[in-house]
Amino acid sequence: MCEKDEPPAPVSLRKSRLSPRALLGNYLYRRVALWVLLVCLILSALLLKTDVRSKTAKVVGFGGFPGTAPPSPQPPPQGSSPHQKQLDAQRLKKLEQQVKEENKPHWIIYKHLNGYFSGLKSLVSIEDHVPEWPSPDHYTGPVTVVPQSNNSIPTPEPYRPYPDYHSEEYLAKHPPVVECHLDEHGTPVPDIHAFPGVPQPHPDPALGDHKILGIRNDVCFDRFGRYGPYGLGYGTEEGGTGQGMDTEHTGAEAVWADTGKIDYRRVDWGGAQERCVARNAQRFVDTTDTDGGNGKEDQNGIRKIEQRQAVIVRTYVGYRWTPHAILNLRAIISELSLKTGGEYSVHFLLHVKDRNAPIWADRSVVQRILDENVPQEFHSLCTVWSEDQMRLYYPGDFGETFRTPSSQPVHGVYRSAHMPMQVFALQHPEYAHIWNWELDMRYTGSFYELFDRIRSWARDQPRRLLWERSAKYYIPALHGSWEQFSDLVANETEASGRPPIMGPVDFPGRKPLFSETPAHRKSVVPPSCDDDQPPETCGVGEEADIITFNPLFDAESSGWVFSEDVTGYDTHLRIPPRRCAIITASRLSRRLLLAMHEETWRHHHSMFTEMFPATMALHHGLKGVYAPHPVFLDRGWDLGAIERSFNGGRDGSSGGPGSPFDIRNEHNHKGATWYFNAEFSGLLWRRWLGYAQMDGRGDDGGRAGEGELRGGQREEESELSSGRMCLRSMLLHPIKYDNPADKA
Ligand SMILES: *[C@@H]1O[C@H](CO)[C@@H](O)[C@H](O)[C@H]1NC(C)=O
Ligand SMILES: *[C@@H]1O[C@H](CO)[C@@H](O)[C@H](O)[C@H]1NC(C)=O
Repeated sequence: MCEKDEPPAPVSLRKSRLSPRALLGNYLYRRVALWVLLVCLILSALLLKTDVRSKTAKVVGFGGFPGTAPPSPQPPPQGSSPHQKQLDAQRLKKLEQQVKEENKPHWIIYKHLNGYFSGLKSLVSIEDHVPEWPSPDHYTGPVTVVPQSNNSIPTPEPYRPYPDYHSEEYLAKHPPVVECHLDEHGTPVPDIHAFPGVPQPHPDPALGDHKILGIRNDVCFDRFGRYGPYGLGYGTEEGGTGQGMDTEHTGAEAVWADTGKIDYRRVDWGGAQERCVARNAQRFVDTTDTDGGNGKEDQNGIRKIEQRQAVIVRTYVGYRWTPHAILNLRAIISELSLKTGGEYSVHFLLHVKDRNAPIWADRSVVQRILDENVPQEFHSLCTVWSEDQMRLYYPGDFGETFRTPSSQPVHGVYRSAHMPMQVFALQHPEYAHIWNWELDMRYTGSFYELFDRIRSWARDQPRRLLWERSAKYYIPALHGSWEQFSDLVANETEASGRPPIMGPVDFPGRKPLFSETPAHRKSVVPPSCDDDQPPETCGVGEEADIITFNPLFDAESSGWVFSEDVTGYDTHLRIPPRRCAIITASRLSRRLLLAMHEETWRHHHSMFTEMFPATMALHHGLKGVYAPHPVFLDRGWDLGAIERSFNGGRDGSSGGPGSPFDIRNEHNHKGATWYFNAEFSGLLWRRWLGYAQMDGRGDDGGRAGEGELRGGQREEESELSSGRMCLRSMLLHPIKYDNPADKA
């Protein structure tokens, strides 16, 4: 064995030694992982002719990093010796008993995963990557040894998930794209950087998947590759943010090799964006009222002209703009707007809460509000709005509400955050689609790759059983390929006896839109759905009207607190059918927003913020899609338990009775990277930024603030560590603060 002549090691190292039994054990995944590890050790010993000990394996779990926290007195047992198996079985029994007797959440029996915290020195190519999860070995503990494939960290490479705008292939089909700049002096928009590989043993996502969407899963991003181009890692005197300089930063300079450290002190993002769109005006269709954003062809019949999309960032007076919030917005604008030659435009909808502020009367009032509440670099992106303005747009009596647990007014942002979006759509016919984005979301990868791939994936989804597929979480390790998942949903739908949804939905008391009256009747389903077409192509190639980042679940009897916050319908009739997606992040089509607008002003209909857009799409036969983006869990869950917990609603879906969005079931999302009450998202994000965090691993199942202080500069620089963290692309929410120094 490689480690035979290892010198006496600290307790935490000794505990994690490989045992011969592990190599011959029953679990396929573990065997593969360990054999790969062993081969790596031998190869690196032969190739590098150096001391194997210093090149191969490091402990990532369980304490002992000088200066970060006192070493844990008794690290939990690891490995699979008979003694340890016995201890694990005892632990499991104790936990299962606690779950039952003390009414604790069932998931505390699954151990925390360590692979997220592996660093750049453990990078392997995707072919050699063995994820820590999924693994049948989740009970007997997470990986505690990380193969350190390289002592020096590799160099990150520019990451460009854009079409090659200069290629003949692109130019044959599209008008040329004029390059955009950060300012009038031609400062280039920098590239973000990625590392070619994934840290061993970075877990796979539990819900959703990179590859089906077309997002790369064979690269990872560290904080400097992601944010260094936008001002992380250098001081304000050089035009940076001054953030990240107190974190581990070996090799960070590589990201500034091409552009130098960019001075952001005088950038005006709105101006840069406007110049970009103006220079690329020939690419875009002027009015978007007629088709659903599917593009048009010019006289030559070859060149498709893009239709434009807006990204609405919702902010408010009093929001605290930290340097990290600024970095996040610079990334969004650079990657979606400037790098694409203006395909997207970013706007801020700034909510002014002070009812006494005469914001419609005088420009100087607005300027003062901007000066006090928004960094200057973003001023020219802002559109102000107020709740009183919504009362003016949508006057009259809204009638009764079935049931609302809040005492908020129907025009308020809490219950009707969609209203300002509707008004924005009305005022901006140039946008075929509008993304709704919130400030407490982060993305470790490229925003363009995320938005573009989700857009085209949703466009290519057939309409048949689409609402049914969109109601269920996709668990690739359990459900298999997307085709298998689709089969499963078809079977479950058939077994349910409920007719699948297709086209507009009828219900007692339904009121039509103008476009649905006989005089105007125009089908909302595309020609690919005509009777003479094969059913599987219906809707393929049709842009989605709503794309959500969580399942579109049936709110009826779901236990979701706001499921009956439905206003303006006849409350003597049955409550209308509803769909909902938690977290308002979404893309809404102009067609949908105008339908919502008409329902609001003409029929006085509204529903709680997260339910109204999805329900309007359902009622009016529009195309609704849940995009199964990768969501990770902090613990090594059993696959069956994920299905039971996240698809525990009616007929194997996430809706109806047993829904994961039932207030009693929402705890299941605590360890996820994406949910409004998730705790793992913030922990993982701050660790990735290089800040030490309590690891949330208390005896009681662990919570934010419990456990040991882990990560941060001392640990990432330590000899025992595999270095600076590098994560696959993932969406994180909620991020209530970035730098622990900013914690309110
Ligand atoms: C280690 O990294 C260096 C620099 O990135 C690279 O040239 C070398 O091939 C790597 N060695 C191994 C064994 O991966
Ligand atoms: C769906 O049902 C068919 C027919 O009963 C069966 O052959 C198939 O295996 C099922 N697929 C899934 C994914 O459950």
